[in-house]
Amino acid sequence: MCAWGWCAGHTRHVTISDLPGGLVLRTARAADLDQIGALLVDRGEEGDDVDHRLVVQDDDAGWESCAVVVDGDRVVSTATLLDETVRVDGVVLPAGQVELVATATDHEGRGHVRALMEWAHERSRARGHVLQVMIGIPYFYRLFGYEYAIDIPRARDLVDAPGPAAGPAAGPAAGPAAATGDALRPATRADLPHLARLQDAAQAPYDVAAPHPEPRRRWLLDHGGSTTWVLDRDGSPVATARARVDDDAVLVAEAAAEDDDGADALLAGLVARYPGRPLRVVHRPLTVPGRRWEPRLGPAGEDVEQYYVRVPDEGALLEALRPVLSARLAASGLDRTGGDVVVSTFRRHHRLAVTADGLGPVRTGGALQSPGAAGGCGVAPDALGPLLFGPHGIEGLTRRRPDVYPGPDSELMTALFPPRTADLLTYYLPW
Ligand SMILES: CC(C)(COP(=O)(O)OP(=O)(O)OC[C@H]1O[C@@H](n2cnc3c(N)ncnc32)[C@H](O)[C@@H]1OP(=O)(O)O)[C@@H](O)C(=O)NCCC(=O)NCCS
Repeated sequence: MCAWGWCAGHTRHVTISDLPGGLVLRTARAADLDQIGALLVDRGEEGDDVDHRLVVQDDDAGWESCAVVVDGDRVVSTATLLDETVRVDGVVLPAGQVELVATATDHEGRGHVRALMEWAHERSRARGHVLQVMIGIPYFYRLFGYEYAIDIPRARDLVDAPGPAAGPAAGPAAGPAAATGDALRPATRADLPHLARLQDAAQAPYDVAAPHPEPRRRWLLDHGGSTTWVLDRDGSPVATARARVDDDAVLVAEAAAEDDDGADALLAGLVARYPGRPLRVVHRPLTVPGRRWEPRLGPAGEDVEQYYVRVPDEGALLEALRPVLSARLAASGLDRTGGDVVVSTFRRHHRLAVTADGLGPVRTGGALQSPGAAGGCGVAPDALGPLLFGPHGIEGLTRRRPDVYPGPDSELMTALFPPRTADLLTYYLPW
């Protein structure tokens, strides 16, 4: 049994919880650094120790964001919770992301990560997060309330690379490879406001967007796992991308550019920076480079990768999204004034009164097996994340799952729950 103890220290909260066998789950501390780093590298990737160090040694995250399970003095399991935000239409939701998870081989299967996920979710709740998102190993995180919800764009081979001075013969999207005055270079701290500006503009067309929080922009400059590149035009940053050198290719992700010329020069610069290496590009279709580079990319693979989403409190999430739902209702032109929007997750249901000023506060009630009788829709709890953040909307999910349906007012539910495009920036790059 886990007993959670929150001990207020001078400036920080420390979690201590007794686990079976005399083991202890507690907030990590500076003396754990080397052991945690070694464990992460042993069970994960080279460089995970650096990623972890950058988080815990940054005051904006700090040691409180990491927990360990210890067997005496030995760290046998660890997890870290990062602060994120997820924008849905015009509303920004505070969110958490669990990262850097590992258990020592000789301690696997004893429930350490289950306990650490409880710690992470409790900390996430205390920090006001209304959802959690993550990239993780297949299936595992479904055991802790996560569901696959948002497509991860797959990397595609660059099959038509621009030459060093590409002209009309270089392919359908060819423009000048690099105008005079263009220069690609690794980003520095001074570029951070420009990187934020370029990525904000790249994400603006997306319905759902998770930017890099400001501290992570710093960590990405200092870690070894990827390089953030900046393209200057006449001394001013106009494009950026993040690149990771893999065994078989260089992965190019998070590409953003002010204009077509910037996108062309960025690609030409990346090709020149990695001579003789094939490039694979994470395609962001709604961005300038996405549109500009697409004719040069090979086909996307058939396999699917998705971000996990966890909804800890349905009513709280719907309440946070109430301005979004109100705006969608207003934009639809449908008049349901005097009625309720009813969303049943079967074990619970949620009602929002339709008023002349939009939707009223969420009122949560008990089980409602047949929401159609109340004019409402049915959405199984594990479909709520896909419904609110995913590419299918209620119509698409209705075709996929018997426990999602719009009920009698499908016009209303289709307006409230449309398919969403999404772009999430995460510490780890998709593969
Ligand atoms: C995956 C890993 C973190 C699991 O840690 P652990 O401490 O052994 O996990 P727990 O004992 O807490 O297991 C929790 C539950 O998950 C199940 N489980 C454990 N490993 C699993 C796996 N790889 N896939 C699916 N289920 C798994 C357990 O049976 C247990 O189920 P239960 O609580 O219903 O009985 C650990 O094996 C590891 O470090 N692997 C290498 C690094 C890695 O993959 N990290 C995750 C990156 S996202």
